[in-house]
Amino acid sequence: MEPTILGIESSCDETAAAVVTGPHQVRSNVVATQFDVHAKYGGVVPELASRAHIENIDGVIQEAMAEAGVGRRDIDAIAVTSRPGLTGCLLIGITAAKTLALAWGKPLVGVNHIHAHATSAAIELGPAEPEPWPAIALVVSGGHTSLLLVRSPLEIETLGVTIDDAAGEAFDKVAGILDLGFPGGPIVSRVAEKGDDRACDFPRTLLGKDSLDFSFSGIKTAVLYRVHGPGRTSGGLARLTAQNVADICASFQAAVVDVLVAKTMLACEQTGLRTVVVGGGVAANRRLRQSLQAACDQHGVRLILTPIRYCSDNGVMIAALGCHLLRSGRRDSLALEAQATS
Ligand code: KG4
Ligand code: ZN
Repeated sequence: MEPTILGIESSCDETAAAVVTGPHQVRSNVVATQFDVHAKYGGVVPELASRAHIENIDGVIQEAMAEAGVGRRDIDAIAVTSRPGLTGCLLIGITAAKTLALAWGKPLVGVNHIHAHATSAAIELGPAEPEPWPAIALVVSGGHTSLLLVRSPLEIETLGVTIDDAAGEAFDKVAGILDLGFPGGPIVSRVAEKGDDRACDFPRTLLGKDSLDFSFSGIKTAVLYRVHGPGRTSGGLARLTAQNVADICASFQAAVVDVLVAKTMLACEQTGLRTVVVGGGVAANRRLRQSLQAACDQHGVRLILTPIRYCSDNGVMIAALGCHLLRSGRRDSLALEAQATS
């Protein structure tokens, strides 16, 4: 019989818990976001995020258990994000998970958040569908932009990472420059729909023809200078029309998506793999989903996109990967620690 896992996630600004039975049967998915807490700062404030996790975590776990219709006896293990993330935030989820593991006498499994995003495209595969591995995984979120080679959920190798900003972070910062609100990704992509994606010639930083690493700080600066004038960092926003703003959003989004798609296809070419999976908050972006689909169709590559509800941080992906780890024999002790980096 498949194990039933409680998954807990608190690495950034979402407090989340979920229950799965086996890696594909989702029984509940509860997420408490903190948009209101961080909106006026234009980004996640770690200290405020930790405090909000403390307030939310018990209720979120209880709701996930109730929604799934399970009690402590039905749970076979507790999976929790242990890295990477904001240390103070990770600590809240880890402490909750350890407490339950000790009190209920259940195994504890620490999960790598990026690996969970990298395998989240497989969550809703039907029982008859083959597992998609080996595959190239593109993980694009507010904290990370990585290409990974997923041989199996238990064997994941990093091929490339961002050397500065993450793609989602760039969306958030561009929204900040244009005074559009937080989190920026969904807003920028909505505003971009009314814009011309060729209006501004923003850079597509590739870092060398064989590189699978990313850099998004240059485009952020290019947007800043486009708004305020070359070398200037303020004073220009009031001069822009709504159409100018939409054009900047569309051109920025097109440039970021072009780079993400080009590098993903390069990873396929370099490894010879014919399957791509995509996860993380930015994987909800419509233009990215469409452009990846077009590129994969053109190259005869199978694309599996994470369902939108599992793109942003959630407990389901943690529980699902935790399930694979548990079945492979992984157990963590109550000495499990939070790690800021992966
Ligand atoms: O995976 P996630 O919830 O958290 C991290 O692990 O970082 O990703 C959040 C990021 C934010 O930067 C947000 O602006 C971005 O994902 N995002 C989007 C979209 N929806 C969320 N970026 C572009 N287009 C979207 N539709
Ligand atoms: Zn994430």
